[in-house]
Amino acid sequence: MQKRPVALITGANGEIGRSLIEALHRDGRYRIVTLDLSPLPEKWRPLCFETYAGNILDRYLLDQLAAHHEIEAVFHLAALLSTRGERDPELAHQINVEGTLHLLRMAQSLTLRLDRPVKFIFPSSIAAYGIPTLAQKKEFGRIREDQGLEPITMYGVNKLYAEHLGRYFMRHYRMLSANSEKSVRLDFRSVRFPGLISAETVPSGGTSDYGPEMLHAAAQNKPYACFVAPEAQIPFMAMPDAIKALMGLLDAPREKLTLPAYNVGAFSLTAAEFVTRVKKAFPNAQITFAIDQARARIVDSWPADVDDSAARRDWKWSADYGIDRAFDEYLVPAIRARYRD
Ligand code: SER
Repeated sequence: MQKRPVALITGANGEIGRSLIEALHRDGRYRIVTLDLSPLPEKWRPLCFETYAGNILDRYLLDQLAAHHEIEAVFHLAALLSTRGERDPELAHQINVEGTLHLLRMAQSLTLRLDRPVKFIFPSSIAAYGIPTLAQKKEFGRIREDQGLEPITMYGVNKLYAEHLGRYFMRHYRMLSANSEKSVRLDFRSVRFPGLISAETVPSGGTSDYGPEMLHAAAQNKPYACFVAPEAQIPFMAMPDAIKALMGLLDAPREKLTLPAYNVGAFSLTAAEFVTRVKKAFPNAQITFAIDQARARIVDSWPADVDDSAARRDWKWSADYGIDRAFDEYLVPAIRARYRD
């Protein structure tokens, strides 16, 4: 029997990573190898073939990984998010750009060794957008992939650049070398995620965190001060849909893909509407507003919603969790159960 191929997940111990491990394990196609700065907790280890604790900037470690495993798919999730990145922009650049470059280089050398394109799945973000004024944000409404691309955070700049880097590796890497036309290159695929909300974990270091934070605080009967204005609006997505998007992208036939990075949408709401949803489920929730001007400005620069018609057309993307289902069938019951014990 042939050995199952390996999928590598970087940042495996993060919010998306943990859910993705479970989904890939259920799917059964791959043996899962993980890499994260912190060791993977006991609960997820049995689902993996091998787990590594280490830094994506450690090229020796990446070489070792590539030498030991025939990696056919890379989910490169490791990143420093937008708030954390503004506190240390150079570190964000190192991790988000140099780290991604190292992973792309590794995937390309595996591509040559295996003589078929390694799939490189990359979560980009609504942070890749940057809209100068609220008037323009209103005008854009549901933004298209090619609009409003002047990100104001280091994280956003890094994500947008990493999308370009991925496109470059896929189409043009070492274009001047002999036989460049014939050389096999990696297969880069990316989605721009909205703010993600998981029932299992509370995010850290992001700027869309006010949504999940107020929800998790309410379930624990803790007061919460929201750092953006009530009218601040961005798109959000429930974690199961984020995983669905990554798996959908993995399975999409290459010839159908027309963009290096796709919008994926689910629902969009203001912070005030978020509070209303939370209070409907947890009537005693104590939520106030204490605006942090800098973080609020970041959220204001992100689109109010995304146009995901390209993903719908090219790889049949559609979210399972609209706003009602996300809150009523996933978030509220799961978060309630989580804090009940
Ligand atoms: N959720 C991320 C952040 O807030 C955006 O990708 O940084």
